[in-house]
Amino acid sequence: MDVLFSLSQTDWTGPFSSDERADAVTALEAGKLVYLPRLAFTVGNSEAGLLDPKISAAGRKNISFDPATGDLGNAALGADDTAALKAMLIRFSDASTSLVRGLFPQYAATLEIGRTSFRPVEIEGREYSARHDDRRLHIDAFPSRPLQGKRILRLFANIARDGAERAWQVGEPFADFAARLAPAIAPPLPGSAWLMRRAGITKGRRTEYDHVMLKLHDRAKLDASYRDHAPRFDVRFPPGTVWMCFTDQVLHAALSGHAALEQTFYLPVASLADPATAPLKVLEKILARPLV
Ligand code: SIN
Ligand code: FE
Repeated sequence: MDVLFSLSQTDWTGPFSSDERADAVTALEAGKLVYLPRLAFTVGNSEAGLLDPKISAAGRKNISFDPATGDLGNAALGADDTAALKAMLIRFSDASTSLVRGLFPQYAATLEIGRTSFRPVEIEGREYSARHDDRRLHIDAFPSRPLQGKRILRLFANIARDGAERAWQVGEPFADFAARLAPAIAPPLPGSAWLMRRAGITKGRRTEYDHVMLKLHDRAKLDASYRDHAPRFDVRFPPGTVWMCFTDQVLHAALSGHAALEQTFYLPVASLADPATAPLKVLEKILARPLV
């Protein structure tokens, strides 16, 4: 199976031909990774020190940045380095946004820009709880942020300066995965969505869609028979490359690597070129009922 759709662009602002745009959106929505092997995010020599894994606060794997507010979380840095890191993350967030808008113009009007993250810590050999272990195949779903069907699009750049690749695995198509595991998922307890919202556990209402997606995330990571038998393909991203995919749809695992940047976007299902490819629509078909 070919899990990558490659584009040879070297510039974050394109240009992209209409054929490239059409092929890219089809591939992305079909659950492929759009891969730009010649597109580098440039880290200046003066920024090299920011790639030290020690800049991450104890025990945290990601430094998280909100480009809307400028809030930086989980970094253990002095004032000058904090300013330098923020400047680098803003540059990355802006570049990512112009790439996504340029390549997928039909998404531009409704694209929501989420958080930016910097992942300076080596993945391999780190301790994780099973549920937080992203070395196991999973789809992304957030316990505290119900998406109510909205898509999660994530763009990654490997910025390691020591040649370290980021090694991923990609799993089977979402429809196959969901058909296997979704029918056995018990519905949420009556009243639980209201309670979680009331208690501040969720920002917004956890719909049945969110419930099923969280359970699918957990089953993929925790169900031993799925873990042992699930189809998987190895993909390796060298430094100086960029890749993106709908991480709510693409089963993915990150096995090794350090120094990656990531930008999250959200997108309404109705903005897709083919809304039938959305996990919401796929799950509603399998379960034969509305989930939002
Ligand atoms: C993940 O989204 O599961 C981790 C991806 C990565 O950090 O490479
Ligand atoms: Fe993930």
